[in-house]
Amino acid sequence: MQEDLIGKINKARMPRHIAIIMDGNGRWAEEQGQDRLYGHYHGVESVRIIVEGCAELGVEYLTLYAFSTENWDRPQKEVEGLMLLFVDTIRKEVPILNKNNIRLRVIGDLSLLPKDAHKELHEALEMTSQNTGLNLILALSYSSRWELVNAVKHIALDVEKGTLQAANVNQQTLEQYLATSEFPDPELMIRTSGEYRISNFLLYQLAYAELYFTNTRWPDFRKENLVEAILDFQGRNRRFGKTDKQIEEETALL
Ligand code: IPE
Ligand code: IPE
Ligand code: MG
Repeated sequence: MQEDLIGKINKARMPRHIAIIMDGNGRWAEEQGQDRLYGHYHGVESVRIIVEGCAELGVEYLTLYAFSTENWDRPQKEVEGLMLLFVDTIRKEVPILNKNNIRLRVIGDLSLLPKDAHKELHEALEMTSQNTGLNLILALSYSSRWELVNAVKHIALDVEKGTLQAANVNQQTLEQYLATSEFPDPELMIRTSGEYRISNFLLYQLAYAELYFTNTRWPDFRKENLVEAILDFQGRNRRFGKTDKQIEEETALL
């Protein structure tokens, strides 16, 4: 990859957390007259490259949308193929994650996963739990609506138990009940393959994220595409509801 492109990155303005909707595997395969699963297999190579790229660039959190709650409704053959791919990939990648000091995390309704995928995942979480570098968060069997309903249900249960006062529920409370309670909100959300939607991904957490859409299909997404997204992010004016002048004054004070 061209070092001059990386050289343009402002290290002081790196996003701490990048979230990616890895879309377009199926279309990528079909365009080559191949089965959709062929695209998913090639998508794993992009995952490897982007995880490594984020670790090198000093990103602290990378959330990858790997499988949504709604994806369970895909044809059985595709779902089974994807589950086998997850188990196989996680098994193979753990030594590499450990070598690169990457900690695996997961968000989603894991109760829906087949037993072997569940077991493999828990072992991988445990085996990488001491790593202190990049947090690689897999959104697996995840949807934002599932997460929000789950959070509301647990808040209600705690109020019923008396361990939480309803009048004290605020944004922080809700955040503590979300699957992402241990992670900061993503500053940059990338979606590949030309679709301009969020598809039930981190609806609460993306409130102030910068959104970046590219036509590149996920199996073609490489480090230079990641760097382009980061450079685009760094050129944006983030105001959080304030005026430009206020933001300028705040930055001058730093
Ligand atoms: C994203 O690629 C991967 C998953 C949803 C598992 P798709 O499988 O959605 O590919 P397209 O969007 O059909 O091309
Ligand atoms: C979103 O992609 C989910 C993942 C990338 C895992 P989809 O392909 O499922 O989303 P839609 O159906 O195009 O909205
Ligand atoms: Mg898709």
